[in-house]
Amino acid sequence: MKIKDWLYKVKLYSKTNNYIYKDSYIILQYVLNKNRIWIELNINFVLNNKIIEYLDFFLIMRLRGEPICYIFNRCFFLNIEFKIYNDIFIPRSSTEFMVNFIIKFIKFNNLIKILDLGSGSGVISMCISKNCINTLILCIDINYICINLIRYNIKKLGFYNIKCIYSNWFSKIKKNNFFDLIICNPPYIWCKDNCINKKDLRYESYDSLVSFDKGFGDINYIIINSYYYLNNKGWLIIEHSSINFEKIIFLFNKYYYNIYTYKCFIFNTIFTLGQKLIF
Ligand SMILES: C[S@@+](CC[C@H](N)C(=O)[O-])C[C@H]1O[C@@H](n2cnc3c(N)ncnc32)[C@H](O)[C@@H]1O
Repeated sequence: MKIKDWLYKVKLYSKTNNYIYKDSYIILQYVLNKNRIWIELNINFVLNNKIIEYLDFFLIMRLRGEPICYIFNRCFFLNIEFKIYNDIFIPRSSTEFMVNFIIKFIKFNNLIKILDLGSGSGVISMCISKNCINTLILCIDINYICINLIRYNIKKLGFYNIKCIYSNWFSKIKKNNFFDLIICNPPYIWCKDNCINKKDLRYESYDSLVSFDKGFGDINYIIINSYYYLNNKGWLIIEHSSINFEKIIFLFNKYYYNIYTYKCFIFNTIFTLGQKLIF
């Protein structure tokens, strides 16, 4: 069997699922230890039985719905390759859109002290660190596995301006520790939302996705409490969805000004930012 025959087989099995076909190249890259260009140029390369066995093994995992990042414990985010563990939230392209904005925003406003709340794999902080070298970033998460993973990723990739601690939102952050910018992509799905049972979400940690009070609980807590950890004129940026939109904007208006909401329909992203109000 040649590479092109195996790809044809994937097309047949994956039916209309383009993501699986796209991921089949990642499976080929991993098993053959070659890059995408090599695969495109060697489409007639003959695969031996052992290799076909490996390819099929990973393909079956993918067809069952397991995300490709969990199969190989690797992920890409804004061109940075980093390690990920099963159960840790897989960063989305919607967040890439937000992070691209944040990098420009930090540079424009010359922001230094950044708090990344609920950092997950730490990719938001790593991308900021790579692009804004003068920043000092604190990552926090409630999941100890995330903390270990972030420490591994920042050491391996050499980001020295990121610190990482366990914290239940602000519980371990000192009261006199103020930030120029707080970023958060919190859990915001309602437990009764059907999307929670979708194939790929089933593999992700429930606590990363779901929040109490119909998905509003954590966002509510973060908007109110961030206020007390921001420098005067500091900024809060939160990724969210259209659910609870009015409540989010109402709350922002109570504590912040210069409020903007960015929507990108291509990536299905919404994030809102606001600047601390001084009463
Ligand atoms: C949607 S994920 C976002 C991860 C990462 N920021 C990203 O965008 O890829 C939400 C993260 O918040 C963390 N989290 C949930 N509840 C938390 C809490 N009470 N305190 C701190 N972190 C929390 C989860 O462990 C998870 O890593």
